[in-house]
Amino acid sequence: MTEKILVTGGAGFIGSHTTLALLEVGLEVVVLDNLSNSSDIALRRVEDICGKSLTFIEGDIRNSQILDDLFNEHRISAVLHFAGLKAVGQSVRMPLNYYDNNVVGSISLFNAMARAGVFNLVFSSSATVYGEPTQMPISEDFPTGIPTNPYGRSKLMVEDVLRDLSLSDPRWSVGLLRYFNPVGAHESGIIGEDPNGIPNNLLPYVSQVAIGKLKHLSVFGNDYPTPDGTGVRDYIHVQDLADGHLCALQKILQTNGVNIWNLGTGIGYSVLEIIRAFEEASGRAVPYQVVERRSGDIAQCWAAPEKATRELGWSAKRNLLDMMTDTWRWQLGNPQGYGH
Ligand code: NAD
Ligand code: UD1
Repeated sequence: MTEKILVTGGAGFIGSHTTLALLEVGLEVVVLDNLSNSSDIALRRVEDICGKSLTFIEGDIRNSQILDDLFNEHRISAVLHFAGLKAVGQSVRMPLNYYDNNVVGSISLFNAMARAGVFNLVFSSSATVYGEPTQMPISEDFPTGIPTNPYGRSKLMVEDVLRDLSLSDPRWSVGLLRYFNPVGAHESGIIGEDPNGIPNNLLPYVSQVAIGKLKHLSVFGNDYPTPDGTGVRDYIHVQDLADGHLCALQKILQTNGVNIWNLGTGIGYSVLEIIRAFEEASGRAVPYQVVERRSGDIAQCWAAPEKATRELGWSAKRNLLDMMTDTWRWQLGNPQGYGH
């Protein structure tokens, strides 16, 4: 039996792009996803782009039977764990749902991995675990902060679980990837981000304004201590993130313990800079109004990505224009996303 990679949440935004990257380098992939925030059309398109097939299992990471059957049927060498819920506002309204999916679900997965003797894992964490550091850029040795919402806390909890697990059993090899702000889409324009309902995040909102689905963008505050007063973030192209996963996967297969890597570009852009760049890439206007700050937002956040470069040989290759152009190509070609 050939060794395969299990991708939980592989039908989602980052999971689908990473699944494609895995297939493109010749790895075999099993995707487990309950399609709670995605469509299996994304996976069919992944197969179309690379001309290779994957195994898709529709199911929940909280279902131990599905996991045991999966590990029995497929020889899995490592797991890339993307499955989880990610909407900050929703997490405040439905905390139990978030802790159940993200924390209980992850523990269910780790238990099944241990039963199957699979100890290699890459986990999707977030820069949100740093809270609001006073200094920029953010490196991995910064203390984790106090996340302001259940989503953020669920990420930090899973990080802690993995640290304890690795201390208890040296066979575990874990990569904690702390993503900054993932944006963009595959350059084909065939797969991309397909948020449910009105987007919470900046880029999907901006692109839906540009295409006319939404009237105008609300800029959440212009009185932050940043050069133009609007929030500054480290936006990273999803294809660069996918490449980062390949590098992390290679690395964890050769090491043990818990390793943390920031995946960011090291460059921060303000909301107004994003609006201008998107207008340039799309040739469309993005009307906006400045409104109150959004509660829980921080002023600025960008990565020190050097550790990933040093240890993984990875760095982000795509610039702001690539991120905007690829988002726009996906938006134009798929005004209804995957149509679900
Ligand atoms: P996404 O919602 O597009 O993908 C997550 C996938 O997991 C979806 O396909 C969903 O159907 C699936 N899923 C959710 N709960 C599940 C469960 N219990 N069992 C099986 N499948 C389940 O999100 P994404 O943007 O691709 O994010 C992937 C991961 O990266 C998430 O863990 C997220 O928290 C983390 N992350 C995302 C961002 C971001 O801005 N997109 C930033 C930092 C971290
Ligand atoms: C959000 C989440 C964070 C998560 C990250 C990546 C919150 C509070 N935080 O971070 O936990 O890890 O996404 O998915 O939701 N903005 C506007 N108008 C909008 C939308 C956003 O002005 O309609 C601004 C924000 O104030 C911020 C920037 O754009 O300055 C980026 O916002 P967003 O895309 O939501 O990401 P984060 O707030 O960084």
